[in-house]
Amino acid sequence: MIVDAAVYLDPGALAEQMAADIRAGLTATPKTLPPKYFYDARGSELFDQITRLPEYYPTRTEAAILEAHAGEIAAVTGAESLVELGSGTSEKTRLLLRALRDAGTLNRFVPFDVDPAVLKDASAAIADEFPDIEVEPVVGDFEKHLGSLPRHPLRLLAFLGSTIGNLDPAQRREFLAAVRATLTEGDCFLLGTDLVKSPDRLVNAYDDAQGVTAAFNKNVLAVVNRDLGADFDASAFEHVAVWDERNEWIEMRLRSLRDQLVHVAALDLDVRFARGEQMRTEISSKFRRERVEAELAEAGLRLTQWWTDPVGDFALSLSVPV
Ligand SMILES: C[S@@+](CC[C@H](N)C(=O)[O-])C[C@H]1O[C@@H](n2cnc3c(N)ncnc32)[C@H](O)[C@@H]1O
Repeated sequence: MIVDAAVYLDPGALAEQMAADIRAGLTATPKTLPPKYFYDARGSELFDQITRLPEYYPTRTEAAILEAHAGEIAAVTGAESLVELGSGTSEKTRLLLRALRDAGTLNRFVPFDVDPAVLKDASAAIADEFPDIEVEPVVGDFEKHLGSLPRHPLRLLAFLGSTIGNLDPAQRREFLAAVRATLTEGDCFLLGTDLVKSPDRLVNAYDDAQGVTAAFNKNVLAVVNRDLGADFDASAFEHVAVWDERNEWIEMRLRSLRDQLVHVAALDLDVRFARGEQMRTEISSKFRRERVEAELAEAGLRLTQWWTDPVGDFALSLSVPV
């Protein structure tokens, strides 16, 4: 059964926040655009295609880890509610839901995402497969609204897909502190993190041969054109993915192919791009166990389990509030 979506982010608030974020990003040096605006209906669909690309190993690797350990996760957590942040299509999450159902503890699923369209479809699909649980979708921003999450007992809070890697270290610190603040005794936090590996494989995963990631990256321009009346010409930008060794993150950028002036009507803003100028659209941090453990500890979370695939491409960790 699906209960009505709780909406923490109504269209008015989202539009206001987006205007402020886009103005800040386009007037900064270097220019940036925040990754959460990739995800309109088209962006979520493109991300779904990315997860099936041969070069994009994270999704299938995380799914394999879940497949191997979902039963153990269900047994260790005894969770009654599964809350998933940045849930998207919740495809892999079914492995967890099935294990919790089979363990006899599950009674609720709370998918939480900034994109209402993907949330609606995913909630319907999950309710179909799991008719005996309550599906309680939440439209919200995980950087702002964790304090308002429903407080059911014995929650397993899951943050999969290494989406945490899209936050910079300061944002991550704030995010993990908010995760810790919402957890009470008996709750657990399951975190998916992509691990440091050869730069070639990393860059290929974010610059696939079919150009799906390039289309995903450029989709943010279409979102800004539609929602803020901008006149970005997507064909005047090209997709760039680079490995930043020092920060251990992949950076996605859009490079301007010519000198150009972009007008953003809703912001009454003209933005000049020089030929070759690069605008950052996403970081995707890669992790090592020590860093994950230390950042969790700093937030007041104790790592209790660490699972990886056989070659150590990706990790799932379970932690509990201390
Ligand atoms: C990289 S995708 C991961 C999707 C899915 N969890 C997976 O593992 O395949 C990131 C998801 O987080 C959502 N998202 C991004 N920023 C968000 C934010 N600030 N608040 C809530 N959801 C967000 C997107 O809409 C998208 O569904």
